[in-house]
Amino acid sequence: MFACRQISLTQFRNYSFKQFNFKQNITGIYGKNGSGKTNLLDAVYYLCFTKSSFNSSDNQSVREGFAGFRIEGNFEKNEEEKKVVCVLRENNRKEFSVDDIVYQRFSGHIGKFPCIMIAPDDVSLITDGSEERRKFVDTLISQLQHDYLEQLIAYNKILQQRNSFLKFASERNSYDESLLEILNSQLLEKGNFIYERRMNFLKTFLPQALQQYISIAGSDDNLVLEYDSQLNNQSFEELLQQNFQRDLYLQRTGCGIHKDDVLIEMRESNFKNIASQGQRKSLLFAFKLAAFETLKENKGFSPILLLDDVFEKLDEKRMQNLLEYVCVQSGAQVFITDTHKERLQNAFMKIGKDYDLIEL
Ligand SMILES: Nc1ncnc2c1ncn2[C@@H]1O[C@H](COP(=O)(O)OP(=O)(O)O)[C@@H](O)[C@H]1O
Ligand SMILES: [Mg+2]
Repeated sequence: MFACRQISLTQFRNYSFKQFNFKQNITGIYGKNGSGKTNLLDAVYYLCFTKSSFNSSDNQSVREGFAGFRIEGNFEKNEEEKKVVCVLRENNRKEFSVDDIVYQRFSGHIGKFPCIMIAPDDVSLITDGSEERRKFVDTLISQLQHDYLEQLIAYNKILQQRNSFLKFASERNSYDESLLEILNSQLLEKGNFIYERRMNFLKTFLPQALQQYISIAGSDDNLVLEYDSQLNNQSFEELLQQNFQRDLYLQRTGCGIHKDDVLIEMRESNFKNIASQGQRKSLLFAFKLAAFETLKENKGFSPILLLDDVFEKLDEKRMQNLLEYVCVQSGAQVFITDTHKERLQNAFMKIGKDYDLIEL
């Protein structure tokens, strides 16, 4: 079993100090809007990912009017207890430790405490631009392959350097040929690495997501999921060469794996343009559950599931199916938030498993 058994929040968002215990594997959290349900789930997410699921700046997580925050969690993992601590110091330095051993690189933590969050805004994964889907895929591969995230971070750093180089070069109307070659070769090396990894991963992941969609929606709706990359048709090297004049003109690198996407089509049209609300939600859950299954299979234990306000999103029948799956079949520790105590209780009652209820 992998589970978070206790969490203490200090100066984190709306909490000044609060401790929660999670004895059961199912925890229902209820409270009015703004009572801190999402913040509590995000605190668990913080300890799994070293960062928030929605705020990019740690600073925004500090309780207003205070300096610094602390999240401390006790986890059960392979029958061992693990203490995970995330501290933002008053000087804004973040520290992350497991059993009091501080990480030099946060990327070393990713994948050790896997979790999946399903939240209301997540439908942006389907409806927004390619960045959301790259983030989803990267977050997932990072948890499966320890060297992926570091290569990705390195790629983005070189990309920035190359873009600064382009800006400088276009302003000066001249550039250092040998520096460009170094930047290109570094970008190629990292870019090709990431391309290979994404391709291999998506080759098995996308069919699994489609399978999940079929079991949620009852039909495949002629859905097509595909890895879309400029590198599918041409080598990265050729792309960089061909686009150099344009890159120079635009002062940024216009081709590469930072443009990748997952193509989602239905009946040969862009899915988001023609899909119903229900189909979008089904696809969102399909992606998330496929991610869950992939992690579970790879790790040999179930990631923690954080379900935020999912009752609002599915009809009762689909909701009950989903609950049956996450609370019984998945073998995972599950957190579910809702505004209505009775709705949560009724749903859990039908499942017939022990659960904790927390009122905020
Ligand atoms: N940095 C912060 N300092 C103080 N309060 C915060 C901070 N960030 C968010 N909040 C408060 O947290 C509350 C929202 O919590 P949230 O977990 O989203 O609620 P819920 O999910 O229960 O609707 C809001 O009242 C908001 O003002
Ligand atoms: Mg919320």
